[in-house]
Amino acid sequence: MRAVLGMESEVPEGGAKCVSTNQRPYALFKVGGKVYCLDNTCTHLGGPLCQGRLQGSIIQCPWHGSRFDVTSGNVVGPPARKPVRSYPVAIEDGKVVVELP
Ligand code: FES
Repeated sequence: MRAVLGMESEVPEGGAKCVSTNQRPYALFKVGGKVYCLDNTCTHLGGPLCQGRLQGSIIQCPWHGSRFDVTSGNVVGPPARKPVRSYPVAIEDGKVVVELP
């Protein structure tokens, strides 16, 4: 299912935006002009990744500090051990279009 999760201009470079669709929360990030979308649920205990601190392409969970690469969802720092799910993003007419399952 393709879903529009907002406008590209609403996602700050080097930052995050919290969005949701169908009552499910997602986190958008912009790094190097490119937008990435992850589940907004840390795989440790469910912390909201869109409220974390982004450094380069690494987001740090605000709850216990797990770190994930927003370009892939891979874990780069504990305590989380499982990757967070990431979704393909396309920008169409300035809209963030995400391919959701
Ligand atoms: S919930 Fe994210 S590190 Fe614990």
